Amino acid sequence: MDSFRSLVLERYSCRNYDSARPVTPQLISDVLEDARLAPSACNRQPWEFWVILNDSKAREAVLASYGREWLATAPAFIICMGREEEGWVRPFDSHSHIDVDLSIAAEHICLSATEHGLGTCWVCNFDPDVLRRGLEIPAGLRPVAIIPIGYPAEGSKVPEKKRKAPEEIIRWFL
Ligand SMILES: Cc1cc2nc3c(=O)[nH]c(=O)nc-3n(C[C@H](O)[C@H](O)[C@H](O)COP(=O)(O)O)c2cc1C
Repeated sequence: MDSFRSLVLERYSCRNYDSARPVTPQLISDVLEDARLAPSACNRQPWEFWVILNDSKAREAVLASYGREWLATAPAFIICMGREEEGWVRPFDSHSHIDVDLSIAAEHICLSATEHGLGTCWVCNFDPDVLRRGLEIPAGLRPVAIIPIGYPAEGSKVPEKKRKAPEEIIRWFL
């Protein structure tokens, strides 16, 4: 990948994985190094990443929390969790920046995975209670995103990017 723009264009929400092709802990560790290096408010790094590979009970918990068939094709999952007590809170309006920090780290994961030839998809529409019970997530730790990760299924293509036009979203003060 020779430029950041190419990487951005290559990343897409992959919803069909090659389940026969495992991802190694080494590969996932390498991807997570890019999450570890992500910026965060006041450098609090209020995160934890739970990696679910072959543990069948943990896999079932993830699948139960988001009942879409495609999710089961993923050979691995990274659960991005926020440590509630560690997030920076803006004093003016008491707004916690945990979700912002976790989102940056999660997107580092997705872009890094793309560079490694892996597919990912943000999943936030999961049932947090089901996930919490299934993975025995302690109080004070909040699952923010499930990131399935694996090699895209044979024949997968990057879909066309459907995005708003610059004029719709950028306001210049020249
Ligand atoms: C915060 C967030 C939550 C998302 N949650 C889900 C989800 O629960 N399920 C899903 O299939 N895709 C989910 N997506 C993926 C979006 O649908 C996808 O990013 C968007 O349609 C643009 O497509 P692209 O990622 O292929 O460029 C989520 C994306 C983001 C950023």
